[in-house]
Amino acid sequence: MPTPSIPWSIYRDLWTPMPAGPKGPYLAGKIVVITGATSGIGLEAIKQLAKASPEQLILAARSIEAGEKVLNDLKKAHPNIKGKVIYLDLMKLESFKSFVEELKAFDRVDLLINNAGINPMFEEAPYKSTEDGYERTFQVNVLAPLLLTLMLVPQLTKSSEPKVIYSGSDGHLVADSDLIETSISNNESIVKAYNDAGKYQNPKRYFESKLLLQMTTRSLIKYLPSISTINVNPGLAMTNLGREWVPIITFETFRTIVWVMFNTRTVGKAARNLTSAAAWQGGSQDYWTGGVPAASENLYLYSGKGVKATQQFFEEMLEEVEKISPGCTSDISLKQ
Ligand SMILES: NC(=O)c1ccc[n+]([C@@H]2O[C@H](COP(=O)([O-])OP(=O)(O)OC[C@H]3O[C@@H](n4cnc5c(N)ncnc54)[C@H](OP(=O)(O)O)[C@@H]3O)[C@@H](O)[C@H]2O)c1
Repeated sequence: MPTPSIPWSIYRDLWTPMPAGPKGPYLAGKIVVITGATSGIGLEAIKQLAKASPEQLILAARSIEAGEKVLNDLKKAHPNIKGKVIYLDLMKLESFKSFVEELKAFDRVDLLINNAGINPMFEEAPYKSTEDGYERTFQVNVLAPLLLTLMLVPQLTKSSEPKVIYSGSDGHLVADSDLIETSISNNESIVKAYNDAGKYQNPKRYFESKLLLQMTTRSLIKYLPSISTINVNPGLAMTNLGREWVPIITFETFRTIVWVMFNTRTVGKAARNLTSAAAWQGGSQDYWTGGVPAASENLYLYSGKGVKATQQFFEEMLEEVEKISPGCTSDISLKQ
């Protein structure tokens, strides 16, 4: 499978200096919930968020021990910080119920950051299903953020300025739309296609998952206007995201490593994308990159086919999450 060619806009975003990060107590009085704060971009993001005086910093983590360590380290630097670690494994949908229940101890959620993600990007990564029966990249990167958001709508809408941020990726710019288009022309479900082992292809899946996430957040902006939605591209950074990669030394691998080393930004700068979006007061944004609001430059999404696919996919996803958590879509009206 050839690696997709890199569009100019990705280089432009990575090499344009980012504005300074937000300063001051922009999270004062805000209850913040974040997934994926035990590593990489999420970990750097909460270090930055802790400086903004949040009322509560709640870490949703699949390892309570790892989460507690992060929170304790934060408390050393910010003794006044209040927070909690709550168990949530995005690969186990059963854990969402107890997570949401436990979160009810707080009277609202002002900011949810759906940051956790996985990237089993490499050719040798096989199809793996979760215990819930979904392909794991699809479940963690696409289904989980939507489900968590919708299950938390009652908590979010108690906030005077509810906001949900998603860690998207500029990878969505190079994502293939073939599987989506084939499903539509065969009158088949897009969701089913992405969870069909026979249709699974790597290293495409990570990029595709971020395209599906972009389609989802674009739909949420339209159909859940009571909550600000921002799809943030942190940009390429060296984290544990490639943890499954077992490099086989070839010229191609060497070239990839050099390319990545040359083009990455620091994890702190990647996290600054999340924190600048957290401080943003201007409402929903289709995409956020280089520390500023932007519009996705994926031309497929603007085409007639892309618009139709976005609608079909969102409707299918609503059916899916409704099966998992009945009633969670009740605030969404597809009628405009
Ligand atoms: N790094 C990049 O170049 C880059 C570029 C664009 C977008 N992004 C996006 O940024 C986000 C963060 O990635 P990262 O680079 O910081 O990767 P990372 O270092 O691997 O961190 C991923 C985080 O997600 C958590 N996570 C993974 N699977 C989970 C699950 N089943 N349940 C709960 N938590 C889970 C991990 O928890 P554990 O500590 O328990 O593993 C970890 O905290 C992802 O959405 C990624 O797609 C990254």
